[in-house]
Amino acid sequence: KKAPEAKQDWQGKTFIITAGPTREAIDPVRYISNHSSGKMGYALAEAAAHAGAKVILVSGPTQLPTPTGVQRVDVETTEQMLNAVQQQLPNCDVFIGCAAVSDYRVAEVASQKIKKEQNNQPPQLKLVQNPDILQQVASSEKPPFTVGFAAETENLKANALRKLERKQLQMIVANDVSQVGLGFNSDSNNAIILSKDSEQSLPTMSKHDMAIAIIDAIAKRYFNTTA
Ligand code: CTP
Ligand code: CA
Repeated sequence: KKAPEAKQDWQGKTFIITAGPTREAIDPVRYISNHSSGKMGYALAEAAAHAGAKVILVSGPTQLPTPTGVQRVDVETTEQMLNAVQQQLPNCDVFIGCAAVSDYRVAEVASQKIKKEQNNQPPQLKLVQNPDILQQVASSEKPPFTVGFAAETENLKANALRKLERKQLQMIVANDVSQVGLGFNSDSNNAIILSKDSEQSLPTMSKHDMAIAIIDAIAKRYFNTTA
Protein backbone atom coordinates (compact mmCIF):
# COMPACT_ATOMS: atom_id res chain seq x y z
CA LYS A 1 0.00 0.00 0.00
CA LYS A 2 1.38 3.36 -1.04
CA ALA A 3 1.33 6.24 1.40
CA PRO A 4 -0.72 9.16 0.19
CA GLU A 5 1.45 11.68 -1.59
CA ALA A 6 1.98 14.77 0.50
CA LYS A 7 1.44 17.33 -2.21
CA GLN A 8 2.49 20.67 -0.82
CA ASP A 9 1.93 23.76 -2.81
CA TRP A 10 5.16 25.70 -3.21
CA GLN A 11 3.41 28.36 -5.29
CA GLY A 12 4.78 31.80 -4.39
CA LYS A 13 7.89 30.41 -2.67
CA THR A 14 11.44 30.80 -3.95
CA PHE A 15 14.19 28.19 -3.74
CA ILE A 16 17.87 28.79 -4.29
CA ILE A 17 19.72 25.57 -5.03
CA THR A 18 23.47 25.29 -5.54
CA ALA A 19 24.66 22.42 -7.70
CA GLY A 20 27.70 20.89 -9.37
CA PRO A 21 31.33 21.38 -8.52
CA THR A 22 33.18 24.63 -8.15
CA ARG A 23 36.42 25.16 -9.98
CA GLU A 24 39.46 27.00 -8.68
CA ALA A 25 42.13 28.10 -11.13
CA ILE A 26 45.79 27.25 -10.58
CA ASP A 27 46.92 29.01 -13.74
CA PRO A 28 45.15 29.88 -17.03
CA VAL A 29 44.91 26.21 -18.07
CA ARG A 30 44.65 24.24 -14.80
CA TYR A 31 42.24 24.01 -11.91
CA ILE A 32 41.25 22.22 -8.70
CA SER A 33 37.81 20.62 -8.68
CA ASN A 34 35.96 17.37 -7.91
CA HIS A 35 33.81 14.65 -9.49
CA SER A 36 30.40 16.20 -8.81
CA SER A 37 28.13 15.86 -11.85
CA GLY A 38 25.42 18.22 -10.59
CA LYS A 39 22.73 15.55 -11.10
CA MET A 40 21.35 15.68 -7.55
CA GLY A 41 21.08 19.47 -7.50
CA TYR A 42 19.46 19.58 -10.94
CA ALA A 43 16.99 16.87 -9.90
CA LEU A 44 16.10 18.93 -6.82
CA ALA A 45 15.62 22.04 -8.96
CA GLU A 46 13.33 20.11 -11.29
CA ALA A 47 11.30 18.64 -8.41
CA ALA A 48 10.90 22.01 -6.65
CA ALA A 49 9.84 23.71 -9.88
CA HIS A 50 7.41 20.88 -10.57
CA ALA A 51 5.91 21.42 -7.11
CA GLY A 52 5.22 25.05 -8.00
CA ALA A 53 8.22 26.92 -6.58
CA LYS A 54 10.26 29.58 -8.29
CA VAL A 55 13.72 28.03 -8.53
CA ILE A 56 17.08 29.71 -8.98
CA LEU A 57 19.76 27.14 -9.71
CA VAL A 58 23.26 28.44 -9.05
CA SER A 59 25.40 25.97 -10.92
CA GLY A 60 29.07 25.21 -11.27
CA PRO A 61 30.28 23.67 -14.55
CA THR A 62 28.13 20.66 -15.54
CA GLN A 63 27.05 18.85 -18.70
CA LEU A 64 23.36 19.02 -17.81
CA PRO A 65 20.44 20.79 -19.49
CA THR A 66 18.54 23.37 -17.45
CA PRO A 67 15.35 21.80 -16.03
CA THR A 68 12.08 23.25 -17.35
CA GLY A 69 10.92 26.35 -15.51
CA VAL A 70 14.20 26.80 -13.65
CA GLN A 71 16.27 29.98 -13.72
CA ARG A 72 19.92 29.03 -13.95
CA VAL A 73 22.92 31.15 -12.98
CA ASP A 74 26.24 29.74 -14.15
CA VAL A 75 29.34 30.21 -12.04
CA GLU A 76 32.78 28.71 -11.88
CA THR A 77 34.57 29.61 -8.66
CA THR A 78 33.35 29.42 -5.07
CA GLU A 79 33.58 33.19 -4.78
CA GLN A 80 31.29 33.58 -7.82
CA MET A 81 28.87 31.04 -6.36
CA LEU A 82 28.78 32.92 -3.06
CA ASN A 83 28.18 36.25 -4.85
CA ALA A 84 25.36 34.81 -6.96
CA VAL A 85 23.71 33.29 -3.88
CA GLN A 86 24.01 36.52 -1.89
CA GLN A 87 22.46 38.51 -4.71
CA GLN A 88 19.34 36.30 -4.74
CA LEU A 89 19.14 35.72 -0.99
CA PRO A 90 16.76 38.55 0.00
CA ASN A 91 13.88 36.80 -1.80
CA CYS A 92 14.73 33.26 -0.78
CA ASP A 93 12.40 31.01 1.24
CA VAL A 94 14.32 27.74 0.99
CA PHE A 95 18.05 27.31 0.35
CA ILE A 96 19.49 23.93 -0.58
CA GLY A 97 23.28 23.68 -0.70
CA CYS A 98 23.86 20.72 -2.97
CA ALA A 99 27.02 21.95 -4.67
CA ALA A 100 30.31 20.17 -4.04
CA VAL A 101 32.11 23.36 -3.17
CA SER A 102 35.88 23.30 -3.32
CA ASP A 103 37.02 23.76 0.27
CA TYR A 104 40.25 25.40 -0.82
CA ARG A 105 41.55 27.61 -3.58
CA VAL A 106 45.05 28.52 -4.63
CA ALA A 107 46.33 31.55 -2.72
CA GLU A 108 47.74 33.21 -5.80
CA VAL A 109 46.59 32.19 -9.27
CA ALA A 110 49.52 32.27 -11.70
CA SER A 111 48.82 34.75 -14.49
CA GLN A 112 50.72 32.65 -17.01
CA LYS A 113 50.90 28.90 -17.50
CA ILE A 114 53.27 27.40 -14.94
CA LYS A 115 56.30 26.04 -16.82
CA LYS A 116 58.37 23.06 -15.80
CA GLU A 117 61.49 24.85 -17.01
CA GLN A 118 61.12 27.59 -14.42
CA ASN A 119 60.98 25.09 -11.57
CA ASN A 120 63.79 22.78 -10.51
CA GLN A 121 61.26 20.94 -8.41
CA PRO A 122 57.47 20.56 -8.46
CA PRO A 123 55.78 23.85 -7.53
CA GLN A 124 54.30 24.03 -4.04
CA LEU A 125 50.72 25.19 -4.29
CA LYS A 126 49.72 27.35 -1.35
CA LEU A 127 46.03 26.86 -0.57
CA VAL A 128 43.63 29.07 1.36
CA GLN A 129 40.21 28.09 2.65
CA ASN A 130 37.10 29.14 0.74
CA PRO A 131 34.11 30.77 2.43
CA ASP A 132 31.37 28.34 3.48
CA ILE A 133 28.37 29.37 1.38
CA LEU A 134 25.89 27.22 3.29
CA GLN A 135 27.03 28.47 6.66
CA GLN A 136 26.87 32.08 5.52
CA VAL A 137 23.31 31.61 4.28
CA ALA A 138 22.23 29.93 7.52
CA SER A 139 23.72 32.72 9.62
CA SER A 140 22.48 35.59 7.45
CA GLU A 141 20.20 38.27 8.86
CA LYS A 142 16.92 36.71 7.77
CA PRO A 143 17.91 33.12 7.00
CA PRO A 144 15.74 30.98 4.73
CA PHE A 145 14.88 27.38 5.61
CA THR A 146 18.37 26.03 5.06
CA VAL A 147 19.17 22.51 3.89
CA GLY A 148 22.67 21.12 3.51
CA PHE A 149 24.21 17.97 2.16
CA ALA A 150 26.95 16.01 3.86
CA ALA A 151 29.16 13.86 1.67
CA GLU A 152 30.91 11.40 3.94
CA THR A 153 33.04 8.29 3.48
CA GLU A 154 32.87 7.26 7.18
CA ASN A 155 30.83 7.91 10.34
CA LEU A 156 27.96 9.08 8.13
CA LYS A 157 25.37 10.00 10.72
CA ALA A 158 27.68 11.42 13.36
CA ASN A 159 29.54 13.60 10.86
CA ALA A 160 26.29 14.82 9.29
CA LEU A 161 24.77 15.67 12.67
CA ARG A 162 27.88 17.65 13.52
CA LYS A 163 27.44 19.66 10.32
CA LEU A 164 23.74 20.21 11.04
CA GLU A 165 24.66 21.63 14.42
CA ARG A 166 27.79 23.55 13.46
CA LYS A 167 26.19 25.24 10.45
CA GLN A 168 22.85 25.83 12.21
CA LEU A 169 20.83 24.09 9.50
CA GLN A 170 17.17 23.09 9.53
CA MET A 171 17.94 19.87 7.69
CA ILE A 172 20.85 17.88 6.29
CA VAL A 173 20.93 15.09 3.75
CA ALA A 174 23.65 12.65 4.71
CA ASN A 175 25.19 10.91 1.77
CA ASP A 176 27.49 7.92 1.93
CA VAL A 177 29.93 8.53 -0.91
CA SER A 178 32.19 5.58 -0.10
CA GLN A 179 30.15 3.10 -2.13
CA VAL A 180 31.20 2.70 -5.74
CA GLY A 181 28.42 3.62 -8.16
CA LEU A 182 26.47 5.69 -5.65
CA GLY A 183 26.44 9.39 -4.90
CA PHE A 184 29.15 11.37 -6.64
CA ASN A 185 28.78 11.37 -10.39
CA SER A 186 26.24 8.54 -10.48
CA ASP A 187 22.53 8.25 -11.20
CA SER A 188 21.41 6.84 -7.88
CA ASN A 189 21.95 7.61 -4.28
CA ASN A 190 21.06 6.54 -0.77
CA ALA A 191 20.80 8.92 2.13
CA ILE A 192 19.53 9.81 5.57
CA ILE A 193 17.54 13.01 5.98
CA LEU A 194 18.34 14.45 9.40
CA SER A 195 16.98 17.32 11.39
CA LYS A 196 17.31 18.19 15.06
CA ASP A 197 14.54 15.81 16.07
CA SER A 198 13.86 13.54 13.13
CA GLU A 199 15.53 10.98 10.97
CA GLN A 200 14.38 9.43 7.71
CA SER A 201 16.38 6.80 5.87
CA LEU A 202 15.99 6.73 2.11
CA PRO A 203 16.87 3.47 0.40
CA THR A 204 18.89 3.38 -2.81
CA MET A 205 16.84 5.13 -5.46
CA SER A 206 17.32 7.32 -8.49
CA LYS A 207 18.32 10.93 -7.92
CA HIS A 208 15.02 11.89 -9.54
CA ASP A 209 13.03 9.97 -6.92
CA MET A 210 15.30 11.10 -4.12
CA ALA A 211 14.78 14.73 -5.13
CA ILE A 212 11.02 14.30 -4.83
CA ALA A 213 11.45 12.67 -1.40
CA ILE A 214 13.71 15.50 -0.20
CA ILE A 215 11.37 18.26 -1.42
CA ASP A 216 8.57 16.40 0.31
CA ALA A 217 10.51 16.17 3.57
CA ILE A 218 11.24 19.91 3.36
CA ALA A 219 7.54 20.63 2.79
CA LYS A 220 6.54 18.66 5.87
CA ARG A 221 8.91 20.70 8.02
CA TYR A 222 8.45 24.05 6.30
CA PHE A 223 4.67 23.97 6.41
CA ASN A 224 4.81 22.22 9.76
CA THR A 225 2.47 19.46 8.78
CA THR A 226 2.36 15.93 10.11
CA ALA A 227 1.78 13.11 7.71
N1 CTP B 1 29.38 23.90 1.48
C1 CTP B 1 29.32 25.24 1.10
N2 CTP B 1 30.46 25.96 0.97
C2 CTP B 1 31.66 25.40 1.24
C3 CTP B 1 31.75 24.04 1.61
C4 CTP B 1 30.58 23.31 1.73
O1 CTP B 1 28.22 25.75 0.86
N3 CTP B 1 32.75 26.16 1.11
C5 CTP B 1 28.13 23.13 1.66
C6 CTP B 1 27.90 22.02 0.67
O2 CTP B 1 27.16 22.49 -0.44
C7 CTP B 1 27.09 21.03 1.50
C8 CTP B 1 27.60 21.24 2.89
O3 CTP B 1 28.22 22.52 2.91
O4 CTP B 1 25.72 21.35 1.51
C9 CTP B 1 28.55 20.22 3.39
O5 CTP B 1 29.61 20.03 2.50
P1 CTP B 1 30.74 19.02 2.88
O6 CTP B 1 31.86 19.11 1.90
O7 CTP B 1 30.12 17.68 3.16
O8 CTP B 1 31.19 19.58 4.32
P2 CTP B 1 32.30 20.58 4.77
O9 CTP B 1 31.66 21.49 5.76
O10 CTP B 1 32.99 21.23 3.63
O11 CTP B 1 33.29 19.65 5.57
P3 CTP B 1 34.29 18.47 5.00
O12 CTP B 1 34.48 18.66 3.53
O13 CTP B 1 35.52 18.69 5.79
O14 CTP B 1 33.61 17.17 5.35
CA1 CA C 1 33.87 20.07 1.87
